[in-house]
Amino acid sequence: MNVLFVNACLRKQSRTKKLAKYLLEKMDQPYEEICVQNEEIASLDEKTLIERDRKDLGNKYFSYAKQFKEADIIVIASPYYDLSFSAKLKDYLETINIVDLTFAYNEQGMPYSLSNVKKVIYVTTAGGPIISHEYGYGYIETFFKAFYGVQDFEYYYAEGLDIIGADADGILERTKAQIDERYGY
Ligand SMILES: Cc1cc2nc3c(=O)[nH]c(=O)nc-3n(C[C@H](O)[C@H](O)[C@H](O)COP(=O)(O)O)c2cc1C
Repeated sequence: MNVLFVNACLRKQSRTKKLAKYLLEKMDQPYEEICVQNEEIASLDEKTLIERDRKDLGNKYFSYAKQFKEADIIVIASPYYDLSFSAKLKDYLETINIVDLTFAYNEQGMPYSLSNVKKVIYVTTAGGPIISHEYGYGYIETFFKAFYGVQDFEYYYAEGLDIIGADADGILERTKAQIDERYGY
């Protein structure tokens, strides 16, 4: 199983990244990591749209989609930002979601997968309560279901970490215990 770790955490001391690394250790499988903020992942603009239409697959732009296409399990880590996730992660998703490369449309206009991905694991942490899971994890779930037919999801989150007086370490330990429950102690 090819595991791809999509690290969309921005801080060196990121607690989301630490949680994701804890999970990856427990999964005990080799993995490839892509740290999205260290990559030259262009946001969509007219230039990138033209580049996408040209479909020169040797172009660096498509290297992320080709890497994604080979992965069986995707582990995504992003902090909960503004009810969702980091814009860098959205840039990444737009970069890997390429029609006729990672997915295609059938005659009814419904997308189907041209990629290996079978499972997606999402890890996040939030300073306050996660007011809605819909725009962060929910978006990820719908995205991978709709384009790639993924049915197997795991979601680990720790919330309320920045609330004054919160026992952030204790909260993180409880999320780690959920990972232990799934992957063993
Ligand atoms: C730009 C920005 C936006 C944030 N938006 C939210 C938010 O909408 N809700 C919330 O509960 N916390 C929010 N936070 C707090 C982070 O979710 C929290 O500190 C998180 O644990 C940071 O993850 P990290 O330790 O992996 O960097 C925000 C923080 C930043 C810097």
